[in-house]
Amino acid sequence: MQIIKELNEDNLKIIKKVIFKDDLVIFPTETVYGIGANALSEKAVERIFAVKERARNNPLIVHLKDKAEIEKYAFIQNEVEKKLIEAFMPGPFTLILKKKDIIPDVTTASLDSVGIRIPINEIAHKFLEYVDCPIAAPSANISTRPSGTNLDDIKEEFTGLVDLAIDGGSSQIGLESTVVKVIDNVPVILRPGFITKEDIEMITSKCLVSEHVLKQIDSQMKVESPGMLYRHYAPKTKCLLVYSDNLDTLKELVTENIFSKTIVLGSSKLKDIPCFKYIFYGNTKEEISHNIFSLLRKCDTYNADLIIIEGVKKEGLGLAIMNRLIRTSNFNYIEK
Ligand code: TXA
Ligand code: MG
Repeated sequence: MQIIKELNEDNLKIIKKVIFKDDLVIFPTETVYGIGANALSEKAVERIFAVKERARNNPLIVHLKDKAEIEKYAFIQNEVEKKLIEAFMPGPFTLILKKKDIIPDVTTASLDSVGIRIPINEIAHKFLEYVDCPIAAPSANISTRPSGTNLDDIKEEFTGLVDLAIDGGSSQIGLESTVVKVIDNVPVILRPGFITKEDIEMITSKCLVSEHVLKQIDSQMKVESPGMLYRHYAPKTKCLLVYSDNLDTLKELVTENIFSKTIVLGSSKLKDIPCFKYIFYGNTKEEISHNIFSLLRKCDTYNADLIIIEGVKKEGLGLAIMNRLIRTSNFNYIEK
């Protein structure tokens, strides 16, 4: 895989050529890395699904260079959508809008809606501006694995599958964008992220959270966000997620579940608990969000039998962290 470190004119030309050959480019954003392809080319989008081993009924997000582009590809149908665009785009936010016919069905898994995102990351923006076409991009990971938040973590996974990557260091936020759909004039969070329910309520006074965010979904159920159906964000090692408001209860929960080769992944609250390996994930929600996917991948390198992960309060950014960690641990979750 060729890795581009600087977006000078020569490199931008190379990138554009790759995109218009219907090939894939891994690129950084403020949330996580994406695997990008020309969203208007069926052939290019097909390659994303093949490379990621992604279910065909899981739609891709379309990335645009700026707000003026939105109505080329989607309809803005009401004031609530307008307000959300004004407040949160560009940024770590994806809005599901009614799609225009120019977007091929394969990109949206035949839905009549399309997820639109405008990254604020400077490299992502430069890339989108230069190629000057909408870029379909899922998170850069093979399906089921934790999303890629730096190139070192994902280089191997995509060797031989993707020819070109842009290095932008480690992703600032570390968790994927907040996905929102306006239903009956009310924003509904389909996937929580850095832009929280509380942030959205400041703009639209009401905001709902899809019940699937913290629940296991039966594959027969109709869901607004197909991505929530699948096993996700998971290292190879088995995980157990534990949470308690009370420090003593939390320590007890961790201690009673430790056996021979158990990694404890958590805040400094758990640093003194005897175990095979303690890994510090941060003390604030921002630190945890930034570090978590990379650390889950690191945990796999120790050949452990179990990873016990400390949960966080499901508020603010904590909802996004717990949405990912509940799936990371395959719903193996204890809260007391
Ligand atoms: O931060 C992000 O959103 C990253 C970066 C690369 O932009 N992308 C990302 O894409 O996380 P992906 O494909 O890993 O997740 C997209 C999520 C999935 O859960 C998918 O089901 C949902 O968005 N989605 C996409 N289009 C949708 C639509 N039209 N209706 C409902 N959900 C949609
Ligand atoms: Mg993903």
